[in-house]
Amino acid sequence: MTSDPRGVAGYCRAVPQDREPRINPSILSADFANLQAELDRISTADAAHVDVMDGHFVPNLTLGLPIVEALQRVSPIPLDCHLMIDDPDRWAPAYAEAGAAGVTFHAEAATAPVKLAREIRKAGGRAGIALRPATPVEPYVDLLGEFDMVLVMTVEPGFGGQGFLDVTLPKIRRARAAIGDSGFDVRLQVDGGVSASTIERAAEAGADVFVAGSAVYGADDAAAAIGELRHLAAAACRH
Ligand code: DX5
Ligand code: ZN
Repeated sequence: MTSDPRGVAGYCRAVPQDREPRINPSILSADFANLQAELDRISTADAAHVDVMDGHFVPNLTLGLPIVEALQRVSPIPLDCHLMIDDPDRWAPAYAEAGAAGVTFHAEAATAPVKLAREIRKAGGRAGIALRPATPVEPYVDLLGEFDMVLVMTVEPGFGGQGFLDVTLPKIRRARAAIGDSGFDVRLQVDGGVSASTIERAAEAGADVFVAGSAVYGADDAAAAIGELRHLAAAACRH
């Protein structure tokens, strides 16, 4: 880690200076019987992270387009949809058409990621590409101009409440360096096990969008938890 010439803090220094950290709570840890109220609980967040799982790409099954359309009608904040589904080439653009601000699909599941990213953008969404812990970022470096966000999974996708995988930190650093070298305006999101005790590590590595499910919805005061995460991420990456 310290043998790297940029130094650990060098990666968050590569985050553009005007970039405040974003906190996107995951509604996977919300009460699914009261989603409108649960969205209102996180109205101070930057976006609501919506985990779409199909029971194929990941073993878990959550919700799909009709529910995202319903959430879109009532959400006080933008929706950040994370599609953990097979064949996103077929399904992802509809989420952007439904009004989701961000639509992120998995690199491992997409057949034609450039074509798909262009379709999402054409439909008015910000396009994101997600990488499972064992998926390298290098094959996607030349494609960064096609994306608004890279999502480095910090757990194996499928379930909330898992422990943050520190083995993903070098990839977060490499992704941040590649984004800096590319010159494109690309956000770097981390998702899985992000909490008050792990967010600083991710921020130092260069992440600037933080998904937190159990850390926010498990708190008595969700707004306070969001504020604490935002503060910790910003303090860990002061220029
Ligand atoms: C996991 C999901 C995450 C999950 C994070 O596959 O993509 O968004 O909700 O939950 P926590 O923050 O509890 O790890
Ligand atoms: Zn997610």
